[in-house]
Amino acid sequence: MQIFGPAADALNTLTPSQIDFLERTPKAELHAHLNGSIPLPLLQELAAEHLSAPGAQEDPAIRAALEALRAGPALAEIHDFFHLFPAIYALTSTPRALARAADAVLAAFLGGARPQCAYLELRTTPRATPAMDRAAYLATVLSALERYAPAQAGLIVSLDRRMGAEALEECVALACALRAQGRRVVGVDLCGDPLAGDMALLGPYLARVQAAGLGVTLHIAETTENTPEETLQLLSYGPQRLGHATFLDAEAIALVLEKKMCIEICLSSNILCKTVSSLESHHISQYLTCDHPVSICTDDILPFRTSLIGEYALLLAAKPLGLGLSEAQVARIAAMSMSHRFSQEL
Ligand code: IMP
Ligand code: ZN
Repeated sequence: MQIFGPAADALNTLTPSQIDFLERTPKAELHAHLNGSIPLPLLQELAAEHLSAPGAQEDPAIRAALEALRAGPALAEIHDFFHLFPAIYALTSTPRALARAADAVLAAFLGGARPQCAYLELRTTPRATPAMDRAAYLATVLSALERYAPAQAGLIVSLDRRMGAEALEECVALACALRAQGRRVVGVDLCGDPLAGDMALLGPYLARVQAAGLGVTLHIAETTENTPEETLQLLSYGPQRLGHATFLDAEAIALVLEKKMCIEICLSSNILCKTVSSLESHHISQYLTCDHPVSICTDDILPFRTSLIGEYALLLAAKPLGLGLSEAQVARIAAMSMSHRFSQEL
């Protein structure tokens, strides 16, 4: 896979033996969004088919999004990133297109002679479209994912921050029922526009998820505009893992350290969305200093043009392109990711 940007710059400085080390080290990818991880060639193929379908009309939004994705990340700020998804969604709105997307994403992480990771927890938001309901959406993704062994892949059902009570009820009921049927759902996530929605709604739903034995991970404190009150409320729901957790205050950090909540770190995502100004100032360093659990993840390899090996290269490369960690330190971080898989806790 060809990558660009900070991860590629770091990877390019590594020796063949360092790259070999990164590839051989068992790693778990715990934070990857399905619709943000579709390989660009497949998305282009889906767009061409969409446009040539009988009665199809030229959609300038799809063309613009594909052009932006082809040109590579040039985001002024994090909200620009969310504007890309409506066009992607228009192309993955049938069971057939979604199945192809899921197959391609799973292969991008788990396929090939030297897979990106030993284990993938793929997450996705169940979406109702004219061609499928939320149950059919999850059934389609699970059929693709369950072709891999339980030791290789699990599904996290994402709740979008914009969801109201009805959608939350449907998604949580589906996640719990699928789990009870022995399907490969391992956890529930909260994602979406970091400033949208009412987080007070979530408590009872997450309690049901936890009672069903599923893991909980929450995107939290992604922007400076997320309030300390909201962050404390989300932490009070008792998630085992946190996505980004970029802007925690002292009270929140103390809780996270006490409860040993694993931080899912997405270095390129944070740098390209400009929520973190440089690798050197990234909050990963504060967690590494106190040996707090972190897991290195890609978030969305489609817009961010990265890979899991690229993200690990950002740890190993010498400063300033990387954090200049030793192979022993990187191996320890990789082991932390393996020990924070939800599937392990089930
Ligand atoms: P999906 O859940 O498979 O449709 O993946 C795309 C969705 O993931 C987007 O619509 C967002 O809701 C969510 N997402 C992707 N990256 C981020 C992030 O960094 N923060 C919050 N939500 C995200
Ligand atoms: Zn994310």
